[in-house]
Amino acid sequence: MAHVEPEDFNRAGNMEELLGLLGKAGIENGWAKREPSMYAIPKNKFAPAHWTYAVAHAALDAAGRFVNTELAERRNLILNNPIPGNHYPTVTTLVSAYQMVKAGEVARSHRHTSNALRLVLQSKPGMYTIVDGKKIPMVENDVLLTPNWSWHAHSNETNASAYWLDFLDVPLTHLLGPMFFEHHEDMIEKSDIIDAASPCRFPFEQTVARLADAPEKSPGVREIQLGAPAMRTIALHVLRLEAGASFEVAPSTLNCIHAVMVGAGEARFDDVAFNWTRGDVVATPSGRGYTFTAREQSYLLRVSDEPLMTFLDWLRPIPAKA
Ligand SMILES: [Fe+2]
Repeated sequence: MAHVEPEDFNRAGNMEELLGLLGKAGIENGWAKREPSMYAIPKNKFAPAHWTYAVAHAALDAAGRFVNTELAERRNLILNNPIPGNHYPTVTTLVSAYQMVKAGEVARSHRHTSNALRLVLQSKPGMYTIVDGKKIPMVENDVLLTPNWSWHAHSNETNASAYWLDFLDVPLTHLLGPMFFEHHEDMIEKSDIIDAASPCRFPFEQTVARLADAPEKSPGVREIQLGAPAMRTIALHVLRLEAGASFEVAPSTLNCIHAVMVGAGEARFDDVAFNWTRGDVVATPSGRGYTFTAREQSYLLRVSDEPLMTFLDWLRPIPAKA
């Protein structure tokens, strides 16, 4: 940075010279910014997007031939939002990925400051996530939490590959900075306890039973929350839609990802529509309104940054652009 003295500013004869001096002093002017720092409504850069489990399943099987067992915990497919230059987040604060662990494999014990959760898509009895030394069964459509800094590993003690969806607040961690990660001193944390009733597990059969008792929020649509909320930065809701039922969401600051636990239907945005089926993922970013319609009875998991937006008092509707 060039050295600038206070007296230099006294000699500035016009705006151009003043801007030149500010540039040398490492200062940006506030009256003619390159880009405005405040604007009337949020600029939402992420796009609606859809990924199918059918494609992800085939891709994971192929990755299983080329990514070796030692890297099993990295054999995942990151659902990066398809906007120019983006290689990671699914929506602003969250990322989702498909993962597969083959029969007999373990994904090594590690922990990180990012909060994570899983939705189990395909597994047999004998598939476990090990959280802080306890084996938690991974049953299809279960939701399993691994909050900030909890040790976790995956152990496939079955004779078939297991598949699931990961959701993490890594993009938020990147934005704020406090990313820490470490491997456990043991390849896989020792565990003799099977904890099916872990507070980190939301068994699907309980979710189904709770939804059966939940009131309708609109015709044919019921919704429950998992946890209160599930994690500090992430809320989880499960919706049950009867065949033909729809729900409409107005544009807001909430960043969401929807995953299909059961069923099939359509997600319609103002400029694009997706046909979803079991295991698919739909990115529903902030600033976008959308309607989900079920063709058959369906269960959807909604992963959102609602606790964060609520804590900051930033959960607001976004009006349509004038
Ligand atoms: Fe992890």
